[in-house]
Amino acid sequence: MLDQLKYQPIHSIPESGEITAKSPSNIALVKYWGKKPIQIPTNPSISFTLTNCFTKTSISFKKSNSFSFNFTVKGVAKPSFIPKIESFLDRIKKWCPFLFYYQIDIDTENTFPHSSGIASSASGFSALSLAIVELEQKITGITNENKYLKASFLSRLGSGSASRSLYGPAAIWGHHKNISSTNDHYAIAYHDLHENFKNYQDTILLIDKGTKKVSSTVGHELMHNHPFSKERFLQAHNNLENMISVLQNGDLDKFIEISESEALTLHAMMMTSKPYFILMKQGTLSAIELIWSFRKESNIPLSFTLDAGANVHLLYPLAYKQQVLDFIGSELIVYCENQQYICDEVGSGANIIRASYA
Ligand code: DP6
Repeated sequence: MLDQLKYQPIHSIPESGEITAKSPSNIALVKYWGKKPIQIPTNPSISFTLTNCFTKTSISFKKSNSFSFNFTVKGVAKPSFIPKIESFLDRIKKWCPFLFYYQIDIDTENTFPHSSGIASSASGFSALSLAIVELEQKITGITNENKYLKASFLSRLGSGSASRSLYGPAAIWGHHKNISSTNDHYAIAYHDLHENFKNYQDTILLIDKGTKKVSSTVGHELMHNHPFSKERFLQAHNNLENMISVLQNGDLDKFIEISESEALTLHAMMMTSKPYFILMKQGTLSAIELIWSFRKESNIPLSFTLDAGANVHLLYPLAYKQQVLDFIGSELIVYCENQQYICDEVGSGANIIRASYA
């Protein structure tokens, strides 16, 4: 399966150049929580790809006798990111040997506010990986389809959820015996969406913009000796299969049931691991209760999901956008730090903005 992703050497590589890629964040409907080395998920997951929350990353490269890299965010050095990028480059070396003939400068920027509690690793690693594979395509002529698969494969080695950001409107990562082409190494695009889910909205309430007390990496680790992990992994497999039927048949009630249960199960896993921890805040719970009352009273199919943090993602069909925004403005905004929320929607994935070679 991975043979097509191996690097096919050819002899002429560009002297220098610059490539800019753009990749969005994504929101999981069935959650990835638990992994084995190296970055192999313990259950499959599916996510909606977003549009407005994205990272734009440029790599400038120049041939050199020794490899080195620089990393900046909007031109400013960020030493705290270096160890994660170093470990990523180390992991991808065998798959992208051409990169190590260069000196590279990586510059990146996010559309969403830094430290908004929205993970930038998914959009960040997927944008960087796509830029790297664009260079590989220039050198070897790898096909477009394989370009995206490989970018997803590399992204996974940086951050698991990043593997799903390459394609829209949705993506599945992780092997499921009943879903063809699914595998643990890279995500595949999922296109078969019912009309109800076209342009589905994700409005993100920024409940707590602080840094998380427990990182996702540690949370994944804690699934190893978790008392409920076996059941959880089984449940995720079932939920994925059911979610795919829902995405095809447009059953919004069932969509709400699976996605909210997934969000609460994710946090239940955190609360029952050893050591246990809580990432929800009071505002998270208050918002959830209000969402439930609003749904009951209005009959509007508004649901929520959560990431590994306190922020609440409101999911709903485009047709109800105004009613939901009014509801946020009147009842939920008090729980948002600095009254901030982000309006996003399902999108089409990553792409190359510019590439030039010398
Ligand atoms: C709760 O992809 O951030 O968002 O692979 O360690 O980088 P690493 O973890 P990460 O985990 C994301 C977990 C999640 C659920 C999901 O996106 O599926």
